[in-house]
Amino acid sequence: MHMKKLKIGVIGLGGIANFHIEGILASGSAEVWSICDCNEEALLAKGEELNVPPERRYVNHLDMLKDSEVDAVTIGTPNINHFTIAYDAIKHRKPFALEKPIALDAKEAEILRLALGSDPLPHMVCFTYRYKSAVRYAKHLLEQGALGKINHVYSQYLQSWSINEDIPLVWRFRKELSGSGALGDLGSHILDLKRFLVGETVRVIADAGTIVKERGQLSGDGKGEVDVDDFCHVLARFADGASSSMSISRFAYGRGNYQQIEIYGTQGALVYNLEEEDTIHIKLGEEQQFRKIEIPGSFAANQMQSFFDLLNGKGDGLDATIEDGCINQVTLDAIVQSFTEERWITIGQEVLIHG
Ligand SMILES: NC(=O)c1ccc[n+]([C@@H]2O[C@H](COP(=O)([O-])OP(=O)(O)OC[C@H]3O[C@@H](n4cnc5c(N)ncnc54)[C@H](O)[C@@H]3O)[C@@H](O)[C@H]2O)c1
Repeated sequence: MHMKKLKIGVIGLGGIANFHIEGILASGSAEVWSICDCNEEALLAKGEELNVPPERRYVNHLDMLKDSEVDAVTIGTPNINHFTIAYDAIKHRKPFALEKPIALDAKEAEILRLALGSDPLPHMVCFTYRYKSAVRYAKHLLEQGALGKINHVYSQYLQSWSINEDIPLVWRFRKELSGSGALGDLGSHILDLKRFLVGETVRVIADAGTIVKERGQLSGDGKGEVDVDDFCHVLARFADGASSSMSISRFAYGRGNYQQIEIYGTQGALVYNLEEEDTIHIKLGEEQQFRKIEIPGSFAANQMQSFFDLLNGKGDGLDATIEDGCINQVTLDAIVQSFTEERWITIGQEVLIHG
């Protein structure tokens, strides 16, 4: 059956928008209908590249949201705009795919959760790594109880790009624009994966630091302070008592986008590594060694296609919601509080109950 293509409005035309757009173009279910960026040069360049007519290029997202033809929007702006744009999408009844972390802090995240709670709308939070087949297969094995009771989860998400001191003071280095640093940028993904695979985190203690404390202003006018974490190391407990660690850094020499999660249970263990995203290493029962297994093709997934399937009423229930994003944000805030106050923080039970 031939289905009408979903008309997608793309908000924010930077790095991640290319991934969103690629997903739209690759899908038979959707088209780039309109685009929005407050940077007029970026808007013009993308408009020309994608042949979006000038009347459907917007500098203000509210003008895009007023177009009754738009079926849904993607929100790929810096973190500071997530709350306002997602809130406006909810008010204009536009389904949306929102980038992570969903807000600057838990207060904003909670407002989004409440706004949707009273007025539900199809939506997705872009926790991209939920769509890796290795992650989906690991989830399947864990749900089958293949590993027994989980005792430990050791996780890492390491990049190196910030070692370059010439990188200027972009929004990722400013708390008022990003909420936190490496933690919110990279740690938010790992926290989501830990919930997706294992369960709720109930308490945390963290250490974090800033290695390069000043960077050149974007205006070219002197230097400004980096006031977010360049690295963050977290010890945590799951609700059922399992103990975990999470190492996050933008200063891990040689690492591009290195992500690894090791899960150890009473009857087995598995290792997910993003560099081999179609395999996992596993050791079950009496096996002598870890072995690499290929993942059945049925576990393959694609984030943007999943968004369109969701919009067409065919979601598989595995997409992250604002509820998930809200719990993620509460955990991020607890970690920031922990490394600021140098103590264990118990995560608000009332939030976990909503999840
Ligand atoms: N899911 C993932 O794996 C993943 C990967 C990278 C980035 N991200 C997330 O995507 C978001 C954007 O990151 P990026 O690397 O693309 O940033 P970026 O700086 O490359 O691009 C952001 C774009 O948004 C535009 N913008 C800013 N304010 C706007 C507004 N009010 N309205 C419209 N456009 C506006 C900017 O002009 C810029 O073009 C961040 O929240 C980041 O955490 C997610």
